[in-house]
Amino acid sequence: MRPDKLPSSDFRMIATTFVGLEEVLAGELLRLGAKNIESHNRAVSFYGDEGFMYKANLCLRTALRVLKPIYTTKVVNEEELYDEIQKINWDRFMKVEQTLAVSAVLNTENFNHNQYIAQKTKDAICDQFRAKTGKRPSVDKDKPDIGIYLFIFKDEMQLMLDTSGVPLYKRGYRQVADVAPMNEILAAGMILLSGWDARLSALYDPMCGSGTILIEAALIAANIPPGYYRQDYCFKNWPDFNEELFEKIYETVINRIRNVPVDIIGTDISQQVINKAKENAKAAKVDDMIRFVQGDFFETSFGLEKKYTLITNPPYGERMKKEDIFAFYKQMGDTFKHKYKGSTAWVISSGKDAMKHVGLRTSRKIVLFNGGLECRFCKYEMY
Ligand SMILES: C[S@@+](CC[C@H](N)C(=O)[O-])C[C@H]1O[C@@H](n2cnc3c(N)ncnc32)[C@H](O)[C@@H]1O
Repeated sequence: MRPDKLPSSDFRMIATTFVGLEEVLAGELLRLGAKNIESHNRAVSFYGDEGFMYKANLCLRTALRVLKPIYTTKVVNEEELYDEIQKINWDRFMKVEQTLAVSAVLNTENFNHNQYIAQKTKDAICDQFRAKTGKRPSVDKDKPDIGIYLFIFKDEMQLMLDTSGVPLYKRGYRQVADVAPMNEILAAGMILLSGWDARLSALYDPMCGSGTILIEAALIAANIPPGYYRQDYCFKNWPDFNEELFEKIYETVINRIRNVPVDIIGTDISQQVINKAKENAKAAKVDDMIRFVQGDFFETSFGLEKKYTLITNPPYGERMKKEDIFAFYKQMGDTFKHKYKGSTAWVISSGKDAMKHVGLRTSRKIVLFNGGLECRFCKYEMY
């Protein structure tokens, strides 16, 4: 039900995210000025106006996409679904020349094949256009002009427009990736979960790979919106897109970028990987904020001269023998303990057994997913 006392220009939206990042996303939405925020499983709902929809897409670091519900009703079988989709006047949302993609998420006993139901929904939309114009819109699954999400929970269906399009983790700065690059949303979420404050500690990823954690940390410190690099959003293809309002919001958000003194450091054992990370940082225009050093974490010492927040995603699996992995994690824990007294380390890994070998007391443990892999994100405080 719509909450009272909201201006009529406000509407409900849903930002989706990864498991474990719901509260971080809700916090981001609160700081941006969203109203009536509610956390759900892998999603956060909120209210805002059209301008806020643009702002959310430009600024949210931990959202996968922002959806706008347009129609809710009850359906129990395919025929009803088809009829309900046909009741909507699709001219309001797209032109026949535009491409579309439909995704379906089902949590019901009445329907069971997501892809089949998505196709049925797409057919109902296309049939309406064909009846009116003699033409059918084409499908583009990767980069549609208009993205549509259908959720069916028990006998209730909700149709939503995807305001974002290509998922928001595709910031547009990644040039090259090497060994298992981390998803940008996950990296940003880990930094926000760690509570890192650039004024209080340096941020150090000792096994930085393609540099995702470091780049996202630089964006956070300098208040650079993740949408800074990106041109395309589905809402730009809508018939009612307000370009003037979007430009105004984009400018306001860009004007908040600040020049701050930060110390963000990345090391990796491979020079080739470091070179690639540097290229990514350059593309993100934050290369002057990050110190990249090639080196073995166990031999490198930035030492005790200041306080560090170490955040890292050490290798796991990658054809290493079990004993080697356990020894590696033990050596990592020893290095934290001996070389980073007074600092805090956060480690994400899917290696549950390996994490036991770090040998330090875990002061916080959060379940997150890296791709499909269930991981533990653990905090260690080195007194
Ligand atoms: C899982 S990847 C990190 C991925 C990274 N988070 C990203 O977004 O691309 C692990 C990295 O640790 C590096 N590495 C392995 N052993 C190391 C060591 N002893 N010291 C420093 N880096 C190491 C590997 O070269 C690899 O790039």
